Amino acid sequence: MIKLTARPPQQFRGDVLVFFVAESGKKQPACRNTQVKRWLKRPWKAGDFRGRKGQCILFYPGLEKGGTGEIAARRVLVVGLGKPGAEQNGLREQLRVAAGTAAARASGLKARELLAVLPEKVGLPPAEVAECISEGLVLANYRFDKYKTVRDEEEDSRPVEKFLLYGGLMSQAPLRRGMKLGRRAAEAACRARDMANEPGNVWTPERFAEYARELADRTSLECEILGTEEMEKLGMGGLLGVGSGSARPPRLILLRYHSRKKNPTLMLVGKGLTFDSGGISLKPAAGMEEMKYDMCGGAAVLCAMDGVARERPKRLNVAALIPAAENLSGSAAIRPGDIITHYGGKTSEVVNTDAEGRLILADALAYGIETIQPDAVIDLATLTGAAIIALGHHRTALLANNDALVQRLEAAGERCGEPLWRLPLGREYTRQLESKVADLKNVGGRPAGTITAAAYLQEFVGDVPWAHLDIAGTAWNFTKKSYVPEKGPSGIGVRTLLELIRHWKPL
Ligand code: BES
Ligand code: MN
Ligand code: ZN
Repeated sequence: MIKLTARPPQQFRGDVLVFFVAESGKKQPACRNTQVKRWLKRPWKAGDFRGRKGQCILFYPGLEKGGTGEIAARRVLVVGLGKPGAEQNGLREQLRVAAGTAAARASGLKARELLAVLPEKVGLPPAEVAECISEGLVLANYRFDKYKTVRDEEEDSRPVEKFLLYGGLMSQAPLRRGMKLGRRAAEAACRARDMANEPGNVWTPERFAEYARELADRTSLECEILGTEEMEKLGMGGLLGVGSGSARPPRLILLRYHSRKKNPTLMLVGKGLTFDSGGISLKPAAGMEEMKYDMCGGAAVLCAMDGVARERPKRLNVAALIPAAENLSGSAAIRPGDIITHYGGKTSEVVNTDAEGRLILADALAYGIETIQPDAVIDLATLTGAAIIALGHHRTALLANNDALVQRLEAAGERCGEPLWRLPLGREYTRQLESKVADLKNVGGRPAGTITAAAYLQEFVGDVPWAHLDIAGTAWNFTKKSYVPEKGPSGIGVRTLLELIRHWKPL
């Protein structure tokens, strides 16, 4: 829970009272509270605390010189913001990281209640300060322990139960607005992490569909689920083929948010492979358990829709498609050499059954574009290991046929601390997919694996403005920072999509 409070921080009787301070060269970092400023003098002189990014220092008011003074909290935590920069996105990230550091430290202290005093004069509007601090706190407080039945007595951390924000003289309305935006985005990302953390035996294609149905039931979203029979009628050979090796049948999930008919429609597509064994082209055993995360694109799209349903943007319609399947090697599985026919009639030679993501996305893209006629399309997928080779775990690969859409996505990603990097497309890459027996083959060889995968998808989008985010490197074990789990799913994409939707302007 996170709330604004107007009560002076000195009167806060909870576990941790947090102040954020900026690093300021040769000077001691400034702190609004004069008592805390006094406490900081010694550590600063000793060179122990400068207000650097990631630095924090803990005080126990009762023990400090100056007596119990005016501060009633059990502990005071001072967190460094680092050097104040001029760039807005950098400042936003500084706040998220510092808030994440505070939440992590507080949870290490098993604090139940934390009051964060919002920093002033950081070069951002108050609403954004509240937004980014809220985001950092909520994202860093994330845990997934529902399957631990034996509680460790000596557990060294516990999530914080209640966050309070104090904004001093800043006016309440923008702070409240900012806090809501930050909290909503962070909660949506945490929901996506939850889905990804669920194992393949729990988070099945049918469970994915059930979640979408429940979401539509409690909101104004429309939901439609296609099962195997409908897919057969529609000729979705990709989704059917990939799902055929598993006893858990595939689903195509459709969700729609309507504002006004005249508004443009954004279509989102997310790869929902609830487990990817590779199929007959079996993956090596080591690390295969991580392939339960192969549904992170689908989770991001579903949770972004959850956010959309709560926020009800006025100027945009949003449609979401999640092809969900499990890639196993049962007796009905597709085999290397098989030729499948996608929705719309294009044929694919399946050279490698482990390049399954593009097969299911092809059907979803072709079907969605034909039936919904969107103004722009964005797909998210843990599509290629090659994306990790290209960009590591620090940036999502972005490939697109439209420069304006690229710019929007890059800006949104930068604002959220989820950076993207564009890779090219082109005929020469598409040519790597030429097949002797079908329209396309599903692999383009080792060189430029991320690009040839996107080039494959491009064959199914036509001329509509389209962007593809390959989140294979960022969906889990994302770049190290305080508000993202070091191991496990990051929830990447959810906040970028929400940000993009919040500020959508026609392309
Ligand atoms: N889901 C994987 C991609 C992946 C691999 C994501 C490692 C995250 C970490 C995808 O289905 C896949 O297996 N891709 C193949 C494509 C290849 C056969 C052309 C890959 O990247 O090896
Ligand atoms: Mn695969
Ligand atoms: Zn996969």
